[in-house]
Amino acid sequence: MASKEIRRSQRLSGVEYEIRGPLVEEANRMEMQGNQIMRLNIGNPPQYGINPPDEIMHDLIYNLHNSQGYSESKGIFSARKAIMQYYQLKNFTNLSIEDIFVGNGVSEMIIMSMQSLLNDGDEMLVPSPDYPLWTAAVTLSGGNAVHYICDDQADWMPDIADIKAKITPRTRGIVLITPNNPTGAVYSRAVLEEIAEIARQNNLLIFSDEIYERLVMDNYQHVSIGSIAPDLPIATLNGLSKSHRVTGLRAGWIVFSGDKRHIRDYIEGLNLMASMRLCSNVPAQSIIQTSIGGYQSVDELLIPGGRIYEQRNAIYNGLSSIPGVSVMKPKAGLYIFPKIDTQKYAITDDKQFAMDLLHKERLLVVPGSGFNWQKQCYFRIVYLASVKELDEAASRLQHFLHGCERSSTVAASLETK
Ligand SMILES: Cc1ncc(COP(=O)(O)O)c(C=O)c1O
Repeated sequence: MASKEIRRSQRLSGVEYEIRGPLVEEANRMEMQGNQIMRLNIGNPPQYGINPPDEIMHDLIYNLHNSQGYSESKGIFSARKAIMQYYQLKNFTNLSIEDIFVGNGVSEMIIMSMQSLLNDGDEMLVPSPDYPLWTAAVTLSGGNAVHYICDDQADWMPDIADIKAKITPRTRGIVLITPNNPTGAVYSRAVLEEIAEIARQNNLLIFSDEIYERLVMDNYQHVSIGSIAPDLPIATLNGLSKSHRVTGLRAGWIVFSGDKRHIRDYIEGLNLMASMRLCSNVPAQSIIQTSIGGYQSVDELLIPGGRIYEQRNAIYNGLSSIPGVSVMKPKAGLYIFPKIDTQKYAITDDKQFAMDLLHKERLLVVPGSGFNWQKQCYFRIVYLASVKELDEAASRLQHFLHGCERSSTVAASLETK
């Protein structure tokens, strides 16, 4: 009897994760054939020799003997207490360790928070561009991700008018990512206050993904929406992966603050989800207290002379010097999101561009559409590699673009269209 094909769930249609998608498979295949690929696609600090602080590794090993068993499903007491105190110092209100959940990275909390919230057809406002797990988590939960525009002409701030225009009776909440992946934007207090007002008027639950909060440069101030809107229920997500360079350990959390009277049932739903997955990785929980209190070694990486700071400058300067490439200097995080002038260069599709760049220059980046950003032609570079490698990346890109230049007459005719 011919066996019937086993197909994936239809919920996966429309779910994309380009950061680890076909381009990466192609890069792997090329490497198997002996090519050396410069991978600037994943925000994974240890992969680039940016390692966790010694103190964290010491505490991890010290606690390992006591971390074999399941923990409380919300997370161990000391971790949740430390998280609570962290947000008390940031002026969050109405915190309780009962409303703090520790997860296997922020990723697990994104998925669980959407699964416990959404009914089929419910809408979530998600930024475009976004960190694509948010869109995927909404879709997998039966919801519709409705993308609001972040404006590349306004330092990538969320477009308030667009948010307002996209609210319907089915809108349940809004996702903010600040500091932002992929753009490097840090949302201003004024913008956050406007978003809080929209949430207030439309009964929206705010989810603020702040995983890059401790990676801000140039004295910019990161403001958490949880600290400025005490009258609203707010879910803030954060974790150790990036600031403490422990992406593989999986430690993240979600904290509910503000006026939680109307979201009790939802929090109980999330609690049910947390209980069913028993607990998150316990060794990783044991380093949360050490990590978020006291001295923060990531600060050294973010000032002149520090690796992340210098690498950010190197790639920004390198990209800015290429004719037809424009880009905002990232204020925080690990990513830069440049735009290529498609009138100057014969590039029509960002995925094809990324594939051609990989084939011709052995440079792996993520196309803008991988972040639910539909305008041509943007792409994301991770600036975790050394200054030398990033300089090399910029010159490979320039070399590639040189080969795509449109003749001046074609470019002029496109301009007049
Ligand atoms: C904006 C954002 N949120 C969440 C995550 C997930 O991080 P983790 O699951 O390692 O905590 C990432 C990872 O790159 C991210 O960029």
